[in-house]
Amino acid sequence: MSTVIEDMIARKVFNSRGDETIEVDVITSSGFGRASAPAGKSRGKAEVVYYPHGGVDEAIKKFEELIAPELIGLNADFQEEIDKALHEIDNTTDFRVIGGNTAFAISVANAEAAANSYGLPLFQYLGGYAAHELPYPLGNVISGGKHTHGKSPDIQEFLALPYEADSFLEAAAANIKIHKKVKDALKKKDKLFNGGKSDEGAWTANLTDTEALEIMANACEEVSNEVGFKCGLGVDVASSSLWNTEKEKYVYQREGKELESGEQLEFIKQIIEKYHLVYVEDPFHEEDYESFAELTRKVKNCLICGDDIFVTNTERLAQGIKMQAANAIIIKLNQVGTLTDALETIEAAKRAGYIPVISHRSGDTCDWHIAHLAVAFKCPIIKTGVVEGARIAKINELLRIEEFLGDRAKMAELQIL
Ligand code: PGA
Ligand code: ZN
Repeated sequence: MSTVIEDMIARKVFNSRGDETIEVDVITSSGFGRASAPAGKSRGKAEVVYYPHGGVDEAIKKFEELIAPELIGLNADFQEEIDKALHEIDNTTDFRVIGGNTAFAISVANAEAAANSYGLPLFQYLGGYAAHELPYPLGNVISGGKHTHGKSPDIQEFLALPYEADSFLEAAAANIKIHKKVKDALKKKDKLFNGGKSDEGAWTANLTDTEALEIMANACEEVSNEVGFKCGLGVDVASSSLWNTEKEKYVYQREGKELESGEQLEFIKQIIEKYHLVYVEDPFHEEDYESFAELTRKVKNCLICGDDIFVTNTERLAQGIKMQAANAIIIKLNQVGTLTDALETIEAAKRAGYIPVISHRSGDTCDWHIAHLAVAFKCPIIKTGVVEGARIAKINELLRIEEFLGDRAKMAELQIL
């Protein structure tokens, strides 16, 4: 058995939106790893740069000329060294030379190759014997905002979060029930509803935010009663997409309303209370740490999660921790580039009592690695849609992990605060 990297290959593939992306193979003498990078649509400003100028073609050129010759011969078992080498080759703070997505695909494929060389599933290679907890699935049921066009809600995502389920299988099945129930409700509400779905497999319909919240609240309650455990309701407001810097207001186009910061805070607080939301992501734009802190102080029993504000970055998270802004953080590996960077952020988050929520991107591939990372790094929530190929790839992998763990499988500790 050897974990020394013998060869590496990069190629162009497509993501679920049909956009070009990069896929990397890492080959050791006794193992193989493959990973492909996702892409966001409502990206945070402080995310790393996905590709160098020239896109995926240029990234592959850089891979062949600069990266592969440096990494071949190194030991895949030393993940930190591989990730450090990627930073050194790039030599910028935002991966603009080789591309953050190039770094991501190499970093993850490398971990997979090392795990495979040992004959271990990735979650066990990274998390050891202690990794036996399954995350709760947080899934997008109705889409709005930048993920849709036309007359859909201004809020980007209306999400279901079953918690207190006994198994991942039951939790994932509850989300699917909610997704189906919402379809029936939408058919009843709008004769013109044609079953359209967004990139993430969530319904797209002619709805206001309030109508979407009502439909979701009913569906979550009904399914909670049917399955006998709690199915909570959440939203990703993706407020940076609503924030107009010139007006200094949140512009809700569909609703025709414009809110100042204080009014936004009141609005969010009001929907949390009225609909018993258990999860709110990005209620404010990415630079407004203060409002995040104020909301976190003012609400109870609700996760206030930062995505665009933190971009999986330890420094941005440190600022949040200092101000007690939010109590949960979205972890998207390709916001920072490497596994080591993401793990550092997850550990810092946990030390400060923030819940790490590992997440897909709206444009994704059937790459299932985040399923393993959720278990390995003990993230109690995985945000990865309810249906659609790229989402189901991750859900189904978690079902395989649950089966593999057998009696040792246990759902994560998740107390909604
Ligand atoms: P993105 O959005 O993947 O399109 O950036 C998802 C999110 O905002 O959580
Ligand atoms: Zn988000």
